[in-house]
Amino acid sequence: MADNHYFSKKLWVEGDEIESRCHGDQVVIKESPEVNEAFFKIIEDDKETDTVVIIGDLINCGERLCHEEFIERLHLLEIRGKRVLVLTATHDYNGCGEDENEFVAVGYDKDSRYNVPCTRRHELDELYRPFGRGQADSAYDMSYSINVGGYRFILLNDDGNGHTDCGLDDKGNEWLEEELIKANQNGEAVLLFTHHPVIAPYPLYEAFAPTEMYGGHEKLKKILLKHGVNVVFTGHTHVHTIRKISDGNNELYDVGTTSVSSAYGKIRKVRLENGVADITTIDLPEEIDGIKGGKDYIASVCFGGYYRRLVDTAVRDYDEFLKLGRGLVPTDKAEKYRFIIKPLLKWFTSLNMSFAGKFGRKYSGLTKTECKSHKEEKVIDMVFVAIDHFFTGDAPFTPDTYEHRVLYGLTHKGDKILKTLKISLSKYINGFDSLWTLAEPIFHNTRTGNDREIKIKIKINNEVTYEKN
Ligand SMILES: [Fe+2]
Ligand SMILES: [Fe+2]
Repeated sequence: MADNHYFSKKLWVEGDEIESRCHGDQVVIKESPEVNEAFFKIIEDDKETDTVVIIGDLINCGERLCHEEFIERLHLLEIRGKRVLVLTATHDYNGCGEDENEFVAVGYDKDSRYNVPCTRRHELDELYRPFGRGQADSAYDMSYSINVGGYRFILLNDDGNGHTDCGLDDKGNEWLEEELIKANQNGEAVLLFTHHPVIAPYPLYEAFAPTEMYGGHEKLKKILLKHGVNVVFTGHTHVHTIRKISDGNNELYDVGTTSVSSAYGKIRKVRLENGVADITTIDLPEEIDGIKGGKDYIASVCFGGYYRRLVDTAVRDYDEFLKLGRGLVPTDKAEKYRFIIKPLLKWFTSLNMSFAGKFGRKYSGLTKTECKSHKEEKVIDMVFVAIDHFFTGDAPFTPDTYEHRVLYGLTHKGDKILKTLKISLSKYINGFDSLWTLAEPIFHNTRTGNDREIKIKIKINNEVTYEKN
């Protein structure tokens, strides 16, 4: 499980304040207890599952009460027969200077916010020690290494603050290498877990948000490849993708799991057998106790579903749009520029795919007849499909689709225009000089072909030889 983002029901009442908070987030806030519970029930009912690994951002923003309630639920999981291993991350504490974390623990009255007891980073160690670290074979700060049924699980704490790099320091890397050498000598296959991505879900992600990666990910990748570690499980991005790198000798997979509480909530089930990790996906169930409308309701109030309603409402009823957008759309500016925003959105939502196909035909090779046959499809629908699949992975615009060719044509035309204007993309986006290179992985799976499942060989790599010292 990743990014549970649990928020207590006791910390808010219905009103503008909590609505504003919800509108600005990718995850559900109000419904997070029900959504978490739905997944915990699935896990409890699954007789095959004996160990639950949760990789950080357990709660909303360091609220002490959220930790207390979340921990109570973890204890219940244990009572019901599951072993629970936990990592904490940035959202789980409130910084006070030296660690720079800017999260503030608040509750929501009808029209205002109020401070609530918070959690400091050092307190997390004590709170979550019973879940993994307390039984670990070895630990470094809040990272730890533990034997699970003959496999070596190593959980790296990287609760960075979004401003600077996070992850193991040099001494920590030495500890990690020692653990990997020991595991290899003992014949244990290794599974690694950390919060931030080690391999970016999309090139775009690393280009725009380098500090949202595992700090020192280049170094970590080298270490893992060198010691024959094949898989690392990560969260944080809320993007559900499986990506791979290779050094020609070993392969490393980063299995990213979306947030439990996202509009597209999922967890992963991993079966370890005969040196193979068989990784599958479990979706948020259609029906959720306490949520009328279940999964569909969650999808409509959160992220893509919410943005879609926002755009549709702006075109239909602008005053209603201002109400619906509170917390996300700056009301004064939206009111001031109503005369531009409304007609612009009206024009954009009316665009059809036939129109979009006409641009970049030189590159896409589409004929006029082919373009004409897509008059009924709207550009806005394609945009929202892409937005939804940004987080769920496996976007459907594969090379055999009309949309793929349109996007190919448009981005290549864009590249040509940039070249004519002598604008170098790589100057603004770290190391990328083509719009298509950035865009293609978002339109279809250019990674491992399937973001939902994969079988990865994790046999121990006895061929790794270690020089003395
Ligand atoms: Fe998160
Ligand atoms: Fe995070």
